[in-house]
Amino acid sequence: MVFYGLKGRDFLWLADFKRKELSAILETAKMLKERYYSGEVYIPVLRGRQLAMIFQKPSTRTRISFEVAMEQLGGHAIYLSWRDMQLGRGETVADTARVLSRYVHGIMARVYEQSDLEELAKYADVPVINGLSNLVHPTQAISDMYTIWEHMGRLEGLKLVFIGDGADNMAHSLLLAGAKFGMHVVVSTPKGYDPRREIMSRAEEDAAENGAIIEVVRDPREAVKGADIVYTDVWVSMGQEEEREKRMKDLSPYRVDAELMKLAKPSAVFMHCLPAHRGLEVTDDVIDGPWSIVWSQAENRMHVQKAILALLLK
Ligand code: CP
Ligand code: NVA
Repeated sequence: MVFYGLKGRDFLWLADFKRKELSAILETAKMLKERYYSGEVYIPVLRGRQLAMIFQKPSTRTRISFEVAMEQLGGHAIYLSWRDMQLGRGETVADTARVLSRYVHGIMARVYEQSDLEELAKYADVPVINGLSNLVHPTQAISDMYTIWEHMGRLEGLKLVFIGDGADNMAHSLLLAGAKFGMHVVVSTPKGYDPRREIMSRAEEDAAENGAIIEVVRDPREAVKGADIVYTDVWVSMGQEEEREKRMKDLSPYRVDAELMKLAKPSAVFMHCLPAHRGLEVTDDVIDGPWSIVWSQAENRMHVQKAILALLLK
């Protein structure tokens, strides 16, 4: 595996990485996916390595794709539910990080608070990978960059429009990712759902450096004009269940349906990190229609995470 200076690094959010480091992840994923499809599924560069995976929230894709990725790289992944660990009975995140570092070579965690990931990373001697927090979902976003690159042959200059909750972890991560890769990222969201200021500031900084454009546009019909990629996510993220009714009402004008897709470029694709709530943020004719690349998008989580693990774990 080629060494790009990423060994031992944490993967907490994309802003921590230089564009060329993120490109190295994409190139490595491409190589691993090609080898996978040529029959070379097992590439044991992480033989004997263990990954602890802590989940404070549910998961289908992240859990399985990380577990399979470790297996295919010759290592092993251990699923740990936060609730079933001593964490659930008050052991501190710092002490957990110290102890896990004595057993495993990497920690992947899905948590509510980004600050818990930072705490884990501060006290762990092994890389900590963010498997989603309320703030960002960086392994999904870098994988999405790979999927777009795979389908369109480039990232720079492409227009990606996120429709829905602008303060969603995916909206945030796509802003940060697009800013690194010189894309035009538009978030179309109602008042009161704008991306967090700290995320916008960081994305704007990176956008200036990489020739990207970052903007918020209220009207989804206006926003999707000229879009290469239309992206959406759930209206009620994990942990927001109490706000369900209000969110349904506020976000219902932001549904991605065929009529909206027809306003994008004729070559436009539809993406969704999944799980999807069909009939809410996206209609069946879009997610099952010719625009949709969501199943390749889901598959690529595995290839890209293999690249992240191979490059980061020692
Ligand atoms: N997209 C994603 O992270 O899916 P899971 O919640 O199933 O892991
Ligand atoms: N925004 C969603 C993403 C799920 C992968 C959530 O946090 O629930």
